[in-house]
Amino acid sequence: PQYDLIVRNADIATVGDRYRADIGVRDGRIVAIAQGLEGPAARELDAAGRLVTPGGVDGHCHFDQPTNDGSRYADDFYTGTRSAACGGTTTVLPFALQQRGSSIQAAVDDYHQRANGKAVIDYAFHLIVAEATKDVTQRELPMLIEKGYTSFKIYMTYDDLKLADRQIIEVLATARKHGAMTMIHAENSDCIAWLTEQLLDAGLTAPRYHASSRPMAVEREATHRAIALAELIDTPILIVHVSGREAIEQIHWARGRGLPIHAETCPQYMFLSAEDLGIDPDDPMHGARCICSPPPRDKANQQFIWNGLSSGLFTIVSSDHAPFNMEGPHGKRAAGEGAAFDRVPNGVPGVETRLPLLMSEGVLGGRIDIHRFVELTATNPARLYGLYPRKGTIAVGSDADLVVWDQFPEGQERVLDNSMLHHAVDYTPYEGMRMRAWPATTVSRGRLVWHEGRFLAEAGSGEFLPCLRPQVPRASNPLEKWL
Ligand code: URP
Ligand code: ZN
Ligand code: ZN
Repeated sequence: PQYDLIVRNADIATVGDRYRADIGVRDGRIVAIAQGLEGPAARELDAAGRLVTPGGVDGHCHFDQPTNDGSRYADDFYTGTRSAACGGTTTVLPFALQQRGSSIQAAVDDYHQRANGKAVIDYAFHLIVAEATKDVTQRELPMLIEKGYTSFKIYMTYDDLKLADRQIIEVLATARKHGAMTMIHAENSDCIAWLTEQLLDAGLTAPRYHASSRPMAVEREATHRAIALAELIDTPILIVHVSGREAIEQIHWARGRGLPIHAETCPQYMFLSAEDLGIDPDDPMHGARCICSPPPRDKANQQFIWNGLSSGLFTIVSSDHAPFNMEGPHGKRAAGEGAAFDRVPNGVPGVETRLPLLMSEGVLGGRIDIHRFVELTATNPARLYGLYPRKGTIAVGSDADLVVWDQFPEGQERVLDNSMLHHAVDYTPYEGMRMRAWPATTVSRGRLVWHEGRFLAEAGSGEFLPCLRPQVPRASNPLEKWL
């Protein structure tokens, strides 16, 4: 047959277009888009006029990442990518974490072993730079960038990860020189340490005090500092997991100065609030399920996030899937009932719910349009991390990564329940939400990996993607004399 697959009668949405057509797929790529496409095809799928968007690109998720506090991420590359696929995501970018005293290359080698034979959709790696020695910034990073690891995350907090400003500057200078993207976790470490000490000394240890230990000023200050350092070095950065108004205001200010500051937010900042960390009289640790950093803020801040999504302030929406079980020896309760908030591993699961939540509440809820949805969840992350146009759009020549959507009319919404999900986590923070849409079919390189309620892919069928340089505008005022 001429095609391996034809998706018929698709209501195709991309960043710039919306039209009805058939999509012809051969050898994992889109080879034709036309109305009334002539076969034959080995398989035909009738989308019956349903919305078809590019497979999601999740630019921030954690699978099988080593920890050193006894906690353990619940998802490995098999369960993590399975969950992603069933939620319409066809590309993930988890993190290869450098251990202090060790090379980044060792982390990359280790991470390939963890992914190989397990991933069911395509994946690339960000690097976490935990120690910015001269060897790292002058030899390792340039070499790894050439090999297709063109983005790295750095932390301004967490004792075993944080970089001092001088180290951040060295990393940014390397990113500028070699054309890489730096993602920054912006929270002020000393403020958090002091506040945590005050809270614990006062006996305020319940999960909700996690939010008190990381108020918005802590995120605002670090966001401003990250912007200032990026301005100094004259290089684009991405502020990850922006939680609310105050960090947004800093980013808005930076954009007004023409600085290439990109921003990511995540569903937890649209749908969770600090109240979700609150005390349940029957289960004091219940709120631990929503402990993540930065913490969810209040309802007014959720509205600021939505405004930033519709206005164009945010570049991408990622899950920051950081999956810890509630129960068991490596989960959120592992330090015991009544353990202080600072002993609860940080992060919430969400790789499978990212797209359905944003489709339901964003697009069908009238907060963003379908083009912006595609841009935030697929096209922009692919551009930012050097995967576009292979990933992130529906076009001839692109990988055949597609989502066919089911939509549910009012009154017939699907109520979200953790048993619907395919991660290895024992809860979802979004339990009980009424979903207006869910992927009916996910196509990854032409293969139906999620269809009619069944997960269909083989472990190891996902491929590693070396990344090209980020496709983002550079700053307009090069300060070459400093470099
Ligand atoms: O609390 C969070 N976000 N945990 C995941 C790690 C990170 O900082 O992104
Ligand atoms: Zn982070
Ligand atoms: Zn993260």
